Amino acid sequence: MKDLSYCRHQFPSLSRLGPDGQPLVYLDGPGGSQVPASVIQAIGDYYTHRNSNTHGQFVTSQESDAMIWQARTHMAAMLGSPDPSTISFGQNMTTLNFLLSQAIGRTLKPGDEVIVTDLDHDANVAPWLTLEDRGVVIRRVPVTSTAELDMDALRQLVNDKTRLVAVGWASNAVGTVNPLAEIRQLTAAQGAWMLVDAVHWAPHGVIDVEQLKPDFLLCSAYKFFGPHIGILYARPGLLESLPTLRVRPQSEAAPERMETGTLNHAALAGTIRAVEFLASFADEPSETLRNRLRQAMTHVYHYEHELAAKLYRGLSGLPDLKVWGPPVGAQDRAPTISFTVAGQSSETIARRLGEAGILAWDGDFYAMTVVDQLGLRGQGGLLRLGLAPYNTALEVERTIRTVEEIIRG
Ligand SMILES: Cc1ncc(COP(=O)(O)O)c(C=O)c1O
Repeated sequence: MKDLSYCRHQFPSLSRLGPDGQPLVYLDGPGGSQVPASVIQAIGDYYTHRNSNTHGQFVTSQESDAMIWQARTHMAAMLGSPDPSTISFGQNMTTLNFLLSQAIGRTLKPGDEVIVTDLDHDANVAPWLTLEDRGVVIRRVPVTSTAELDMDALRQLVNDKTRLVAVGWASNAVGTVNPLAEIRQLTAAQGAWMLVDAVHWAPHGVIDVEQLKPDFLLCSAYKFFGPHIGILYARPGLLESLPTLRVRPQSEAAPERMETGTLNHAALAGTIRAVEFLASFADEPSETLRNRLRQAMTHVYHYEHELAAKLYRGLSGLPDLKVWGPPVGAQDRAPTISFTVAGQSSETIARRLGEAGILAWDGDFYAMTVVDQLGLRGQGGLLRLGLAPYNTALEVERTIRTVEEIIRG
């Protein structure tokens, strides 16, 4: 396991002190990670040196065009796509998914079926529910008591009327990683599309669209050390088959076919640096960007998992505390540890942690259905701790100690 916490000095926000004079502990990454100086600087540099709209016959515009293409190239490398024109950008994942659902919806007929899951963030559910107005039937995959997808139910649901399965790579509420290879097989056998919400997974492990072969995959740069911007991978040729919402002068070809209006250029400049920040964890600087990212994300996975296992063990031993989701270690999992404490609301625990300088989210994080199905709404949902390469074993120990103090009153 390679210790990645050396990256801490690259994050200006990590030097901020909490109320007790100790550095803040950022365990709020699943809601948005911290941002390294290189990304912050790239955003400022864009406005300072290249700020322009696209397709002009002058230097700043030409540099902006080149920068946008580089952002596509970098994201393609991160997702394992050999073709940068498979990468479209948008305001955020939610907005891209709504645009996509409207475009796909216009190709569906009453009685066609779309499958969503009760484990997903609502950004991968609500856009598909809107298609009910067109007579599209929405089927829901329930979750088990261990917060995993009920795969028996899913196998029953996929049939020759299924047009699309919208599924998350990893749960932003409890860290479950879904069996995507099997879901790909099930959908492919019926000629249905598979759309993957990889927002929660993208900061934590390798993504390889060539291997998984999703039709669509979405993520968000602000979860992997970049700015607020959404990213869509679409299998070559697919966007051209969809009646996307477009102004008339807009290109009919991918990737621009999905992109309404002027993009957030400065955020794209930051996204390039965020991908390079991730790649910097690789051991072989001479390798291709794709190979460096694969190696880097493998390091990230192992580093975060060691921390997650420590956090999981420490919390599991505390009285009245229940950690939800699959155990750490036995299977693929995101390093996102969510728990409840009997008799205490998650909001109170989050506030007490906040007072101790430990930043953690409480609630349902928009993954409403899984929180409802686990019966946790009454106590204010979950308390979620998310790990990143800038977190350390000392921070994990401090967090376990503080949670114990809160429980013991
Ligand atoms: C799993 C998951 N999907 C989708 C989203 C929505 O992403 P965005 O904020 O880019 O719309 C989030 C945000 O937290 C998320 O965690």
